[in-house]
Amino acid sequence: MKILIIGTGYVGTTTGLVFCEMGHKVTGLDLDERKVNSLQSGKLHFYEPGLNDLLLKHLNLENITFTTDTQKAIKENDVIFLCVGTPQSPNGSADLQYVKNAASSIGSFMNQYKVVVNKSTVPVGTAELVSNIIKENQPSEVPFDVVSNPEFLREGSALKDALHPDRVVIGSTSKKATLIMKELYKEVTCPIIETNPKSAELIKYAANSFLALKISFMNELARLCDELEININDVSKGIGLDHRIGPHFLQAGIGYGGSCFPKDVQALLHTSRKNGINLSILERASEVNRTQATYFMEKLTNTVGDLNGKTIAVLGLAFKANTDDTRESPSLTVVDYLAKHNCNVKVHDPVVRLQSSAYIQYSTIEETVADADAIIICTDWDEYRNIQWHKLKDLMKQPLLFDGRNLINRDDIIGLGYHYISIANF
Ligand code: UDX
Repeated sequence: MKILIIGTGYVGTTTGLVFCEMGHKVTGLDLDERKVNSLQSGKLHFYEPGLNDLLLKHLNLENITFTTDTQKAIKENDVIFLCVGTPQSPNGSADLQYVKNAASSIGSFMNQYKVVVNKSTVPVGTAELVSNIIKENQPSEVPFDVVSNPEFLREGSALKDALHPDRVVIGSTSKKATLIMKELYKEVTCPIIETNPKSAELIKYAANSFLALKISFMNELARLCDELEININDVSKGIGLDHRIGPHFLQAGIGYGGSCFPKDVQALLHTSRKNGINLSILERASEVNRTQATYFMEKLTNTVGDLNGKTIAVLGLAFKANTDDTRESPSLTVVDYLAKHNCNVKVHDPVVRLQSSAYIQYSTIEETVADADAIIICTDWDEYRNIQWHKLKDLMKQPLLFDGRNLINRDDIIGLGYHYISIANF
């Protein structure tokens, strides 16, 4: 089947390459010539383990090609996936301008029956909106169906998630379109949920919000554990082995970030308010997340005292390990806090290279921690888990370690003579 992916960002590129793996021919369309040229020359414009090799493989096999030619791409393909960004608007709602633009192009240029698939995370009712825009822009009537097929892949493990999903959700009101979608996914062995577009759209928001909620529950509980000197990691294990709860997304830390959880939680809250429903649990989860990094920074102030002029080493800028993404990263909240308190901020990240006047970035951990009054671990990179802490101790002004991701074994690090502060990692 010939597939067009509109939007060659993170989700679009991964989705396209995974469809190539499943035996389909794919065209990636983007208005950004720089991205298209880079991908066509075999170079990913973002960091994702394993994906560049797959790109080279399918370029060589001529299974994938990238273009900026909207008209030709729409005419030549049968199934069109919308994988464009839906950034957050100032009022918290999802900004649908890219979805709308893509839909009007599809309407203008389609020449025969197409299945138009929404993979972008979009509010309830967007399938209908896309359908209306396509109709309005058609010069003459051509049949089509709009399907909602949300994506659940995570940055850093995108390939594994997209190749082996837990489920595929197909929201459709057309039997013909559903059959085509099932044919597309015939290589996948997971359950397929067939539902209507509105339910599919909500499933995506509900999944991300529920995961965000789990994290915030643990983070708020960790504040109590801090007071009572209880190990939150043991609590996570203890409840996670109950199969009704499950072991995932119970890791306390300085909060969730990234391009999805913060934005999607706000978008669902916006939808609920608009409909007169108070999702109070989710409101609170969002608030806990908003204050979690500063909660941790207050521990720094309580320990160090006046931060003015202190040298602080921050390990990790990415919002989580195995990505170069810093969107909504709690590390940036930490850095901001330190800069506002007039600290000399030294940062390290194995992958992220981000210019800022708030800090100086170093390429080695040793340089970063030299002369530091304290180290703060902000991202759960393996590089930090495996640090030879005994070698760093003498480089610092004082051996003070703040572990914002509970990566380090408390007894070991205290045994080395560090003063160790964490998120209830007792
Ligand atoms: C998320 C969803 O998991 C994915 O299904 C969806 O398609 C996109 O959004 P992603 O943003 O890539 O994926 O990262 P994820 O692994 O979910 O982590 C999100 C944030 O939560 C990170 O900042 C991470 O550090 C944090 N997190 C995760 C915790 O603080 N504790 C946990 O137990 C798990």
